[in-house]
Amino acid sequence: MSAIETPSAELEPFLAQLSSAIAAKQLHKLVLSKYQGPQPLKQLQIRPVELKQQWQLSFTYKYQTNDVTRNFSPEQAIAEIKTLLGEQFYAANLFTAALEAQLSISKKGKVLYQQKRLTAPVAPQQDSSHNRQKQRYLTLERPFLQQLGVTDAQQQLIPAMSRKWKQINKFIEIFSGAVQDTGLSKQKQLHVADFGSGKAYLTFAMHDYLTGTLGLDAKVTGVELRQNLVDLCNETAAKLGLNGIDFEQGDVKHFKARGINVMIALHACDIATDYAIHMGIATGADIIMCSPCCHKQIRPQMKMPAVLAPMLVHGIHLGQEAEMVTDSLRALLLEASGYNTKVFEFVSLEHTSKNKMILATKSKQKYNRENLLKQVAEIKQFYGIEQHYLERLLNITDEIS
Ligand SMILES: C[S@@+](CC[C@H](N)C(=O)[O-])C[C@H]1O[C@@H](n2cnc3c(N)ncnc32)[C@H](O)[C@@H]1O
Repeated sequence: MSAIETPSAELEPFLAQLSSAIAAKQLHKLVLSKYQGPQPLKQLQIRPVELKQQWQLSFTYKYQTNDVTRNFSPEQAIAEIKTLLGEQFYAANLFTAALEAQLSISKKGKVLYQQKRLTAPVAPQQDSSHNRQKQRYLTLERPFLQQLGVTDAQQQLIPAMSRKWKQINKFIEIFSGAVQDTGLSKQKQLHVADFGSGKAYLTFAMHDYLTGTLGLDAKVTGVELRQNLVDLCNETAAKLGLNGIDFEQGDVKHFKARGINVMIALHACDIATDYAIHMGIATGADIIMCSPCCHKQIRPQMKMPAVLAPMLVHGIHLGQEAEMVTDSLRALLLEASGYNTKVFEFVSLEHTSKNKMILATKSKQKYNRENLLKQVAEIKQFYGIEQHYLERLLNITDEIS
């Protein structure tokens, strides 16, 4: 017997919507929350997954300290959800190709159900296949790919660009998940800044995804040091007749940004990544996404802890250690600034050596800033590091030491 008496008939419209999305393989994600049961469970996330050519639903039970995953057939999944909703979980958020729906059950058992039809179909958040059948978030027919030399006049992939094509798709896959998770897909207008945009493959891809696939009114600004690339990219945008994308020449260091929802910096050199992260935090961006490169700032400061000296005497190890320490401190400083932060492999090493991604999304939950800054201080002390550049930009040296 549940603590809250929920008339099951009132859940029917939601369950019917869910069942038809599952039957049509249109489910992107279902999140059950407001758990009231005996376990230290926070949330249950359900996503489609393809296992051995079978479409299944993967349930991730998110506990306080760990996640547990179980896979169900569509029928089992629906039965399981019916048991849980209104008995243990009292809120649900449903994302399908056609709509987004919210259900909540009050303490008195009153059911509130709202749904919003999407005007543009939304691509699934993540590749549901475990069989390496990659779903592409963009198609080769997109005109910008031809302009940038990824495809030829027949819209066929140019073989030499296949790595770049994989990278673009992976980037959009990660980006689309973050856009959904932060709720930015519901925002009418979005402003994205791409620091160190270079030849702007990813800048154009992001603009195409936001405006084309999601149908949003997005303004995308690329900031780049090299004037020739800025001119080239602005010419490309003009040739494609795109309005919401432009490129500015400048150093990230001096860029004055306001009202930015998404800040990305992919392979921006050394402390340009710190400037970009700082800019993202300072402007209150919901998503900060960077793939750092050339970790020069920390390495000369690192004093080898005695026990690690036999390992770090090898230059390659010291370089790897400096990279890990630099990015770990960035992740901790992002969390201390109120961001959920993940560090993971962006594209596999066979495609590029610059393969790490730091993805930070603004969190509603409060992080223990004091504790995180203490962890930063301890790591710095262990390696004898005087100062991390992001820490300096955030002006929190006094808090840390
Ligand atoms: C390796 S490229 C990456 C280009 C693009 N983001 C990508 O991933 O394909 C790095 C770019 O960042 C630019 N860059 C480096 N430092 C910068 C700074 N401080 N301000 C603006 N752009 C910078 C470089 O000129 C270069 O075009």
